[in-house]
Parts: sequence; structure tokens; C-alpha cells
Amino acid sequence: MTLSNEIENSTSSKASPKGRFGGAMQKNIAVILGDGIGPEVTYQSIKVLDAIGKQYKHKFNYEYALMGADAIDKTGSPLPDLTLEICFRSDAILFGAIGHPKYDNDPSAKVRPEQGLLKLRKTLELYANIRPVNTYASLHHLSPLKSNRIEGVDFVIFRELTGGIYFGEKKINEEKTQASDTCVYHKDEIERIAHLAFKYAQQRRKYLTLVDKANVLETSRLWRKVVQDLAPQYPDVAIDYLFVDNAAMQIILNPKQFDVVLTENMFGDIISDEASVITGSLGLLPSASVGNTIALFEPIHGSYPQAAGMDIANPIGSILSSAMMLDHFGMLEEAALVREAVEWTLTNSFVTKDIDPVNFYFTSTIGDMVSDYISSTTHERVNMKNVELRKSTII
Ligand code: IPM
Ligand code: MG
Repeated sequence: MTLSNEIENSTSSKASPKGRFGGAMQKNIAVILGDGIGPEVTYQSIKVLDAIGKQYKHKFNYEYALMGADAIDKTGSPLPDLTLEICFRSDAILFGAIGHPKYDNDPSAKVRPEQGLLKLRKTLELYANIRPVNTYASLHHLSPLKSNRIEGVDFVIFRELTGGIYFGEKKINEEKTQASDTCVYHKDEIERIAHLAFKYAQQRRKYLTLVDKANVLETSRLWRKVVQDLAPQYPDVAIDYLFVDNAAMQIILNPKQFDVVLTENMFGDIISDEASVITGSLGLLPSASVGNTIALFEPIHGSYPQAAGMDIANPIGSILSSAMMLDHFGMLEEAALVREAVEWTLTNSFVTKDIDPVNFYFTSTIGDMVSDYISSTTHERVNMKNVELRKSTII
């Protein structure tokens, strides 16, 4: 995949380019279900992709691969070689979630599930993680923020994903009393994601915010310099610089001000979880990780082990990640239909327990509803009888 390709694909869906990429396609998708709720949310995405496939005569072939705690249990490694092989021979990767409490609570564990995801990101050079944040009118009441603050919130976080403190040298002394993690960035690593973010901003409201800690960190000063040096190439884009502590506050105080937010790896991890709360649930947000090779699509939420296997997790973050995958394939009309179906479920209060703890629907029912909506030519013919049967009876 080329960068311009990604930018074009992921931004032009609003332009309704009907027929532009028409024609049946065949795509091979590596599916990594992962841990906790990963499998159950990802299965809903597969239902939805199959519904799209049927409707538009595309063929999606899935090849399943292991990663995370699941892979450690089965193979001893959080990222088996076979998983990499499967990813390399696919057109895109659909990923669920990673993490297990038995590792979280054991700081001395040598092998950890997250190592699998980090190694996959690094090996595939998925250096840009794109996390869109928008709100849904029907869910405004769920946001911890007042409605007037969140109406019309629409921004995208570009998080650097293969550098910084996540990947710098890690040390602990023999007595295990002192530890360090090194944060390293090279100009080239900053430039490549900055170009992506600038181009993305050019196709939106032309406003880029760099989030850093340049008053304290050398790496942040480098980020600022590199971004300032690139700015003349994008004269139509206005740039703002915010320290990360201030940015964390601004995301809550006035989230509408943001358009494209560019930041390094760890700051991006933190502010994207924070930003997700604005929408009403962490379970709603999708992401795409892109680089020079195959792109990966995953919800931003974690493995939520307490809910695993209970059919209560929110599949929308995963389903919207599949929509980003369709955009990436150039299937823009298809992606728009998935988003329309998702909006339809939310507007009609067909939501999971995280959104409505009393009148909620199960994970699998939401997957069925989104797929039914896609499959029906009138986009109305959802089987309400099944829907009622699968509704929670907790009142
Ligand atoms: C994310 C997650 C990961 C990260 C973890 C699971 C390693 O929090 O994708 O945001 O920190 O990048
Ligand atoms: Mg995170």
C-alpha cells in the first residue's frame, strides 16, 4: 500500500464516489482474534464483511492466525512465525484485542501478550495509527461531557506507532531497584508520519495540532523542529503546538477545536483512550495502522477479560475498523454502507451493555443487525422478532 493511496482512500469516502472503484474484488484477510473479547467482536466484523461481500459480489477469504496470550498458551510465543507468514501473504489484517490479567499482574513475566502486537507493528512497519473520533447524536447523553461540548466533534489522531519509549532500550538493574526506558526518535520516523498527517489535514479542515512535551523532552523538540520544517510544503494547513498535559485538558474542555492531531507513540496511546470517552464508550472507536506494507485494522479497546465469552462486548469498534479496511481496499461505497448500518443501530438504541446497562442487546445480535441492514435492499428489513428474542431480559 502506498501512503497516498491510504490518504486518498481514507478521506474520500464522504464524496460518495459511487462506481468509481466498482467491480467484484477478491481480498485475502488475515484474522487475528487475539484475547478476551477479541474473538467475539471480530466475528461480528466477519459477518458484516460477508454481508458486504454478498451484496457487492466481492470475495473475502479469511486466514486465521494466533497472537497474544492465546498464542503463548498454544505455541509458547506471543507472535508465532506462522502468524507473520499469514500476515505477509494477505491484503490486510483484521485484529481483535490483546492482553490477559495473568500477565498484567505478574511484572516478572518474561513473555507477555503485548510483545506480540508490538513486534507485529514493528515487523510490518505500521508506523501510523489513525484513530478517528466522532460522536453520535443518539449517544450524546452517555458522554461524561455536556452535549453542547461534543456536538460536531470530529477529529483524527495520528499516533506514531513504531518508535519512541515503546521501542527504546529497556533496563533494570540486578537488584531490581532501578529501571529505565529510553525514548528515541529519528527525524525520518517523524517526517513520514507528519507527511501523512499533513496530507490528511489538507483533505479535511486543514488544521494540524502537534501534541508534544517540548518544554521538557529533547525528542519533543525534535518533533517540533521536523514539523516546522515540513510546514512550508503544506502552506494551506494551519499548525498549532500543544503540550500534552494541556492537550489532555483541551480534549475534555473543547474537543471541537481539533481536526488532525499528530503525536508520538505513548502520548497517542494515552490521549486516544481519553478521547474515546467523549463518544460515550471506548467500545465504539476503530483504528487503522498503516505503513509501507500491509495495513492492520483493530478497535482501540483492549481485551476486556471480565466480559470474555459473555456476548456483551461492543462490536462497533471492530465493525467500524472493518469499514476502514473497506476504504483501504477502495471499496468506498461499501464502507459508507457499513457506517450507515452502524448509525442505524445506534439511532434505534440497538446497543450493547456498555451503552445501555438495562435494555441492551448482545454482541452477536448487533452483528446480525448490522449485517441484516446491509443485506436488505431497502435497508429496513431487519428481523425484529429475532432482535426481541435476543434482547436482554434484565429490567
Ligand atoms: C493500544 C494498546 C496497546 C498499546 C497495548 C495493548 C500494547 O493500548 O493499541 O492502544 O499500548 O499500543
Ligand atoms: Mg491503548
